[in-house]
Amino acid sequence: MPVAILVGGQWGDEGKGKVIDILAGSTDMVIRSQGGNNAGHTVVHDGVTHKFHLIPSGILFPNCLCVIGNGTVLDPRVLLQEIDALHDQGIDTNHLVISDRAHMIMPYHPVFDRLEEEARGDDRLGTTFRGIGPAYSDKIRRIGFRIGDLTKPRFMEKKLNFVLRLKNEILRDLYHTDEFNEKEILDEYTAIGERLASYIQDIFPMVQDALQEDQNILLEGAQGALLDLDFGTYPYVTSSSPTAGGALTGSGIPPREVDTTIGVFKAYTSRVGYGPMPTELDEVEGDVLRELGAEFGTTTGRARRVGWFDGAVARYSAMLNGVDSVALTKLDVLSQYETLQVCTGYFHKGEYHRFPMSNISHLKHSEPVYEELPGWQTSIADAKTWEDLPENCQRYVERLGELIGAPCDIISVGPSREQTIFRHRPY
Ligand code: GDP
Ligand code: IMO
Ligand code: MG
Repeated sequence: MPVAILVGGQWGDEGKGKVIDILAGSTDMVIRSQGGNNAGHTVVHDGVTHKFHLIPSGILFPNCLCVIGNGTVLDPRVLLQEIDALHDQGIDTNHLVISDRAHMIMPYHPVFDRLEEEARGDDRLGTTFRGIGPAYSDKIRRIGFRIGDLTKPRFMEKKLNFVLRLKNEILRDLYHTDEFNEKEILDEYTAIGERLASYIQDIFPMVQDALQEDQNILLEGAQGALLDLDFGTYPYVTSSSPTAGGALTGSGIPPREVDTTIGVFKAYTSRVGYGPMPTELDEVEGDVLRELGAEFGTTTGRARRVGWFDGAVARYSAMLNGVDSVALTKLDVLSQYETLQVCTGYFHKGEYHRFPMSNISHLKHSEPVYEELPGWQTSIADAKTWEDLPENCQRYVERLGELIGAPCDIISVGPSREQTIFRHRPY
């Protein structure tokens, strides 16, 4: 019963890290179920800012088992750096577990990511260059390496011999660039495998036992619904399924065990990389909101594109994920505005659309329908209860809840744990 899925409701960076950290205090197990180190989840605690790319955002709680699930693609070099950084800060990682079924980002994956982006020219996607697409492609092609393979050096060697022949041929003949050396990769990854060995296991029995024991399990999503491979703005998406469905395949939990789905939504919209974003603000207005919200990427440092809250996107992702409960973040960022615009749908060639269309060219050229709401023009960063929020702010939250189709149970008014209002505990 107590399984909760947490998903990003927009284009990522909704503040999932903060919300997971808050919930992790009363959670037995957090399972990161998809994506890789394209994700950047920020947790601010005791004045320290932690940026997690692979390690689940529950890691600051020693009693919360943090699992990197089978649906992820994991760069073992980055993972080691993250583990080392935590140890340097005196944070224990004995409660970290890695599924042996998780796929590995191999040294050639980021190289292919960059080469493919360059080859696309003007049609590039704006990926994070972390090798995510190439690693998931190899998983689907069945030429991927799983982290459990690190314990099987003979198997690794034989398979790498075959896979590198494919990779090096393309590097050499198509891209006219350096090839990879089998022995170098084997040596490096074998050494990494030894360091990671104590974390790696088949998580299936452990997760099933936790379900039997009715433990509280939180499935940590990365990215957001509009970056979903099937339902996002394809091809301007990531290469996994950051939706509730993806959370289940990425962790091995059956649908009947899910109690609630929490959607994290930013009180406005942001997006990194290319692709349509109907409510995007122009350069001048965008700069203002970007500065107010400090919208610069956690992973790549890129300036995020920003815009008004898109109710059509929110409605779509809430229905797609079956969102029961909303965590609304960064509400404080809007405190200066005299009036706020909220998009409720789009017009394209005279036709009204209540959802983002699958045709991204239509979406790009659609006209958002805006509703204007009064701002509150006072700081809410210290608000502790719903009653502390000004009336116009409450109205804004209620309207967003109506558009999303689920109650805003958690309201975040700043980056730290304390800056959170609980109207209801979602689970
Ligand atoms: P994630 O990828 O969904 O975990 O989000 P990121 O961590 O990439 O980006 C969210 C950013 O907003 C981080 O810098 C957070 O510290 C910050 N943040 C989260 N919640 C709030 C909030 O309510 N108000 C403000 N001002 N910042 C927030
Ligand atoms: P979190 O978990 C925002 C975007 C990239 C690019 C597209 C494809 O922090 O919300 P990829 O490297 O995945 O092949 O890039 O997806 N993207 C994200 N944008 N937040 C993220 O993660 C993202 N992960 C990938 O910017 O547009
Ligand atoms: Mg992020």
